[in-house]
Amino acid sequence: MTSPEHRIALVTGATSGIGLAVARLLASQQYRVFIGARTPEAVAATVKDLRGQGGQVAGAPVDVRSDEDVSGFVGAAVDQFGTIDVLVNNAGRSGGGVTADIPTELWLDVIETNLNSVFRVSREVLNAGGMRSKQQGRIINIASTAGKQGVVLGAPYSASKHGVVGFTKALGNELAPTGITVNAVCPGYVETPMAQRVRQGYAGAYDTTEAEVFAKFVAKIPLGRYSTPEEVAGLVGYLASDQAASITSQALNVCGGLGNF
Ligand SMILES: NC(=O)c1ccc[n+]([C@@H]2O[C@H](COP(=O)([O-])OP(=O)(O)OC[C@H]3O[C@@H](n4cnc5c(N)ncnc54)[C@H](OP(=O)(O)O)[C@@H]3O)[C@@H](O)[C@H]2O)c1
Repeated sequence: MTSPEHRIALVTGATSGIGLAVARLLASQQYRVFIGARTPEAVAATVKDLRGQGGQVAGAPVDVRSDEDVSGFVGAAVDQFGTIDVLVNNAGRSGGGVTADIPTELWLDVIETNLNSVFRVSREVLNAGGMRSKQQGRIINIASTAGKQGVVLGAPYSASKHGVVGFTKALGNELAPTGITVNAVCPGYVETPMAQRVRQGYAGAYDTTEAEVFAKFVAKIPLGRYSTPEEVAGLVGYLASDQAASITSQALNVCGGLGNF
């Protein structure tokens, strides 16, 4: 591939948590980074912040649930920086509850946000984003250890992330003869605003405190703590590099030993 300063990375959900850490890392490695999320003010503030740290960063609002939005978003990235070398499908949401009580709308929204979006954005980047004709590139999907094992009260989330892992393996094998690799990164518990919302949800479901939920989760992690967004970003950065050219169709955990698979 070209040297990092000539590479273009697209990161969805880059205004918070893991996506923000990925965008920051890639920008610090001289990638030109185009970011997106739904909230325009947060996109503008993040672009400003990362530029202030010396990054070549631009962005636009996008809802990854919409074909039209995704088409405009990828088009804007190409107009701004050129064709895409690295796609990080990170945008996602939590969601679950007692499965028999889950409304159809919630189920569909989790699948749309976490799984259908990964197909939608990847297809757009392969075509309008130019990756398919370059015959080189990286697609990195942020799945979850919940994409490898069932999570109680998280059926839609777990189903969506298992889908992301399956999509990654299929597309990775399909594109293996080209220079495009496709991998999933599977975080365990990572301290982000989403993780806080998840703890709130379980505290309500189990009629306990968020502190108790936190202690219960930490007790399950052999490392004894949550991972950081920067630790997840580190693996994304490696998978984006030339050294990772022979890693494809994999789902790699960053989870302090939580997942042994
Ligand atoms: N934190 C964890 O413990 C953990 C563990 C395993 C996997 N993950 C996965 O890691 C990814 C990032 O999670 P996080 O914890 O960093 O979450 P977060 O802090 O809630 O950040 C989510 C980001 O995605 C954006 N987003 C959400 N829905 C979107 C949509 N429909 N279209 C475009 N952007 C959207 C959000 O911005 P807007 O709301 O403005 O759109 C925000 O920038 C997710 O895929 C999540 O499932 C997280």
